[in-house]
Amino acid sequence: MNLDAIAHNTALFTERARTAVMAVVKADGFGHGMIPVARAALDNGADWLGVTSCAEALRLREAGITAPVLSWLHAHDTDFRRVIAATVDLSAASCHHLARIAAGAAEAGMTAMVHLKVDTGLCRNGESPARWPALVALARRLEQKGLIWVRGVWSHLVNAGVPGHLRTARQVELFDQAVALARAGGLDPQVRHLANSAAGLGLPGCRYDLVRAGIGLYGVEPVHGRTFGLRAAMTLHGRVILVKRVPAGTGVSYDHRYVTTVDSTLALVPIGYADGVPRTVGGRAEVWCGGRRHPVAGSVAMDQFVVDLGTGSTRLGDEVVVFGPGSRGEPTVTEWAGWADTIPHEVFTRLGDRIPRRYVGECRTRGVQPDREGR
Ligand SMILES: Cc1ncc(COP(=O)(O)O)c(C=O)c1O
Repeated sequence: MNLDAIAHNTALFTERARTAVMAVVKADGFGHGMIPVARAALDNGADWLGVTSCAEALRLREAGITAPVLSWLHAHDTDFRRVIAATVDLSAASCHHLARIAAGAAEAGMTAMVHLKVDTGLCRNGESPARWPALVALARRLEQKGLIWVRGVWSHLVNAGVPGHLRTARQVELFDQAVALARAGGLDPQVRHLANSAAGLGLPGCRYDLVRAGIGLYGVEPVHGRTFGLRAAMTLHGRVILVKRVPAGTGVSYDHRYVTTVDSTLALVPIGYADGVPRTVGGRAEVWCGGRRHPVAGSVAMDQFVVDLGTGSTRLGDEVVVFGPGSRGEPTVTEWAGWADTIPHEVFTRLGDRIPRRYVGECRTRGVQPDREGR
């Protein structure tokens, strides 16, 4: 994990977006390690951190991070007392959730900082435009009681990665209406936010007061057909633990879905689908070993996969790069996502605990240890 890449990408967001930046560090920092990523981002210009759960928010606070944190996905019966006491901002996507937050604030004896979420078209989390006035009215009443303060209004885009998408224009329109209704209802939201990475970099009209940077922070270019100079932070690699020579026509791994075409050298790598490497990529995916790409032979197993080096050779302990920045010719996470018929977000976040996270980079500072730090 290259924390300098996180630093570079954060700086790129702040320079390009010219607004505040939230580093989205949910799901263990997209699999990169929440605490080291959060620190690297905050040290390099990020103002906010974004997570989905109260547990994640509390982990940030327990690590000593005092920056603003927004937590945005909560069960109907969440007990908000601890996160409110820990000064975590909370998203409210319905009157029910807002009332629950207010109850937590009353019990904690504090004012909860709230971001009202409007559903502008994703049809996922967020209050519908039809019910938005009721949410605003309740928020105003609770503000007057001193239980909450509506610091933000926010929403999430459907097609941010597709420049010029008509739906985005409609979402911006609905978002502006929601903000206007909030203001007309007596609220004064200071942090309006709609943009994810793609919009933050590619759609100036969506940036408002804050850009929520997720996948771009980790170095994946988020806009179709455009590059902004982001740097990949993660290199996933393993080592060869067994080498064997086999004749042409040898079946490899379960069901022998892969058969060698020439007398080959096979290398075994101890990473499998239990570690998050997609099972079905055999026959399509490639890895980098000995200075060139080689195919993953047959199905990925729970704990291991086989590489077909063909007429090439390898030795025990040699490095096998599954994906990385691509600068040496190794596959990127975007290629792996394509082979697995998914998106880089899923490839990153599936990587399990058995894969040690090691951190490199100048900005590996402030309490970050060389291995498995901050988790
Ligand atoms: C609500 C919300 N905002 C922002 C992000 C970051 O999006 P991206 O990874 O496309 O930058 C996510 C990611 O899942 C999200 O759920």
